[in-house]
Amino acid sequence: MSEIAISVDNLSKAYHIGLKEEIPDTLFAAARMWLNRPLHNLRKLARLNTFNDRDDERDLHWALRDVSFNVDFGEVIGIIGRNGAGKSTLLKILSRITEPNSGRAQISGRVSSLLEVGTGFHPELTGRENIYMNGTILGMRKTEIDGKFDEIVEFSGVEKFLDTPVKRYSSGMNVRLAFSVAAHLDPEILIIDEVLAVGDQAFQNRCLGRMSEVARSGRTVLFVSHNMAALRRLCTRCIALENGQVVDDCDADQAIDRYLLSMRGARSDVVTPTRLGTVTEVKLRGEAEPLLKTFCPARIELTIEASQRIVDPGLYVGILSQDGERICGLDLKDFATAEPIPQGNRATMGFRIPKLNLSPGHYMVEFHIKDMASSTVDQIDRMWDFEVVNSKEYGNRKSGKWFGHLALEAEPILPSGTAQDDP
Ligand SMILES: Nc1ncnc2c1ncn2[C@@H]1O[C@H](COP(=O)(O)OP(=O)(O)OP(=O)(O)O)[C@@H](O)[C@H]1O
Ligand SMILES: [Mg+2]
Repeated sequence: MSEIAISVDNLSKAYHIGLKEEIPDTLFAAARMWLNRPLHNLRKLARLNTFNDRDDERDLHWALRDVSFNVDFGEVIGIIGRNGAGKSTLLKILSRITEPNSGRAQISGRVSSLLEVGTGFHPELTGRENIYMNGTILGMRKTEIDGKFDEIVEFSGVEKFLDTPVKRYSSGMNVRLAFSVAAHLDPEILIIDEVLAVGDQAFQNRCLGRMSEVARSGRTVLFVSHNMAALRRLCTRCIALENGQVVDDCDADQAIDRYLLSMRGARSDVVTPTRLGTVTEVKLRGEAEPLLKTFCPARIELTIEASQRIVDPGLYVGILSQDGERICGLDLKDFATAEPIPQGNRATMGFRIPKLNLSPGHYMVEFHIKDMASSTVDQIDRMWDFEVVNSKEYGNRKSGKWFGHLALEAEPILPSGTAQDDP
């Protein structure tokens, strides 16, 4: 067997704008798509006829462009990049869920992939049946699957629902079982897309633990995540994608540092277009002063010029550490209902935080602007960085890695029975 587990050679993938390619999210859908293939191919052929047409070329959006890299057996690789950079598209091509327009991806070994919630599960089948079906697809015998069964069930924590069709599972249960199956069925190559975004902290830690076990046992792992701390812990090498192209491929720490720096962008470049309008201003400041200070009042505000009427405006604000770990979030909808924003109007929204309990340090903030009426969610693909500085209210307390991001209000309980108490 060669040393190379994955070989990607000049891979390109284009989507037709406004033409959502059907991507099967269950095995059942994949089978249906396969049966419909002749018709699908015929349509594709018809589209290819007009491929060189200039209008058509303009309608194409290149999700991946000339991507090349090799992965050796046993390497644990992180794929990083902003929203829409092409990470999931790359994994879908590697998992043979979608086809590239040009280029090649060769994989040597048994691949197990966890792409989106529910991928690879048949909704009508029970958890138990899906475990066996996935094992069979991976080429395992029933006795081999039997041997792994208890471990899979135990890890997933869905024991009580094993005989329930997975369509009745919550998305959390679904991803637990899917991860457990993907990570225990002895794949040679494990491909995981952003699974850590779902599930609670305890489950995320167990996933990471399991992934490092898989990695330590010499398996090849490809892991897409926005969680830089997890990537630093797990991966030795990272590939950074930007607009569908590889912009970095090197040691994980170095690639992550460079990526985080590029995310920050220039402060002046605040005007950011989104589907619902243009973000013209973002303000991150103290209530009565420009600086953000621990335990002092703060304001986070975003101004948008609506390019369409936003009927039921919503805003999500996420605060992240420099490593991309989400620390906390605020959703306007949890507080109040906003009036519609007419087309062309500028509106400022956000939060007043009476007491900022973030310890001194550097953070990032991200925004999702929403119109709940049309279920539009614009996840703005840039972040704004800010610094929280020490304050009188926080005192001379230390900060840094031993103290974390959360600033706790506290009073000391001093030891009793000291010299002072001696008669
Ligand atoms: N099925 C599809 N049909 C049309 N366009 C698509 C489809 N899937 C992805 N795209 C487009 O291709 C580009 C790359 O998308 P992709 O999902 O690979 O990004 P990503 O890096 O995984 O982003 P994220 O971090 O948000 O998951 C995006 O501009 C996206 O809108
Ligand atoms: Mg993705």
